[in-house]
Amino acid sequence: MPVLKQIGQRFLKKKPLKGLVVAACMHITKETGALMTTLMAGGARVYLAASNPLSTQPGVVKDLAKYGVTVFHRDYDTDIKRLAGTRPHLIMDDGGDLTWDLTNAPDSWRKNLIGGMEETTTGVVRLRALARGDMLKFPMIAVNDTPTKRLFDNVYGTGQSTMEAIVMATNVLMAGKCVVVAGYGHCGAGVTARAKGMGARVIVTEVDPRKALQAHMNGYEVMTMRRAALEGDVFVTVTGDINVITQEHMMLMKDGAVVANAGHFDVEIDIKNVPAHVTLLAEGRLVNLAAGRGHPPAVMDMSFSNQALCAEWLANQDDTFPFRHPRIYDVPEDIDEYVAREKLKALNICIDTLTDEQRQYLNNFK
Ligand code: ADE
Repeated sequence: MPVLKQIGQRFLKKKPLKGLVVAACMHITKETGALMTTLMAGGARVYLAASNPLSTQPGVVKDLAKYGVTVFHRDYDTDIKRLAGTRPHLIMDDGGDLTWDLTNAPDSWRKNLIGGMEETTTGVVRLRALARGDMLKFPMIAVNDTPTKRLFDNVYGTGQSTMEAIVMATNVLMAGKCVVVAGYGHCGAGVTARAKGMGARVIVTEVDPRKALQAHMNGYEVMTMRRAALEGDVFVTVTGDINVITQEHMMLMKDGAVVANAGHFDVEIDIKNVPAHVTLLAEGRLVNLAAGRGHPPAVMDMSFSNQALCAEWLANQDDTFPFRHPRIYDVPEDIDEYVAREKLKALNICIDTLTDEQRQYLNNFK
């Protein structure tokens, strides 16, 4: 994670987070460990709890404790409440549960809060629902939506780690199999591309007519889940919504069909009513972390560099900021561009620069 490493080296000298408490609700992985130690290098006191009951990687909790990160790791719901109770200055959330708990906590729990960052699509969808209901009480930056996160982590990270986890859990030969992917957002598009690359026939199911058309023109078969249920060998839900694969769908599936979820919550498949002839992976929890290793560090480098730099950006705001601006922010453009440039540098890739003449041409109407 070279970009994050370099940010950590600067943090160590400049201490931009000195004296601040950061509460992070994230998947407890080695990559998250690198982010937590970066924040500590910046002078923060860091508390961490898991953002999903099955996504904690073995050994990481103990390792982080050695570095001085306080990790709450007894019970999912209680751990997040304890995080909210640390009276944080900054939060990092992945899925929105910490944001929800802090929103509903007594005012005194938010007395230090400057704002926070949200890592994932589901969390941003929930943030927007909070904002629509006029319930957003503090500023949150939608890290998920920034190009250096969404175009890489969501597409290549989810694509690779999901297919890798399914293969590791089942040892299914993907070549020649029929893989059904529900949802053609950035994550779903990543999963379809990897499944196709492994030689599978790929079917997409969608509810959004534009995404359905996009999947069609990218060469995938598009149909309803009811029809796809008859065709598929492996099913992956990546929609963020509930009851995408129902008991009725599963009753139609072939013997030995494999069903997995790559969305944030275990709500996409009717996990209580899986028939005996169908195999559900990872209890319907997000399969890439619960049955695999999560996204590779090379892609988390960009996501978590955005997180660290947004924490610094929030810490640099004045005391009145949270009260003046409890709304959802984009990652500042200069942060996103910096992450892309540093990543290219680390990859030893050079790009061209606009000439003055070209810039002028772009800036003129005529
Ligand atoms: N989300 C997906 N992959 C992850 C990883 N490796 N670490 C933390 N969060 C993740």
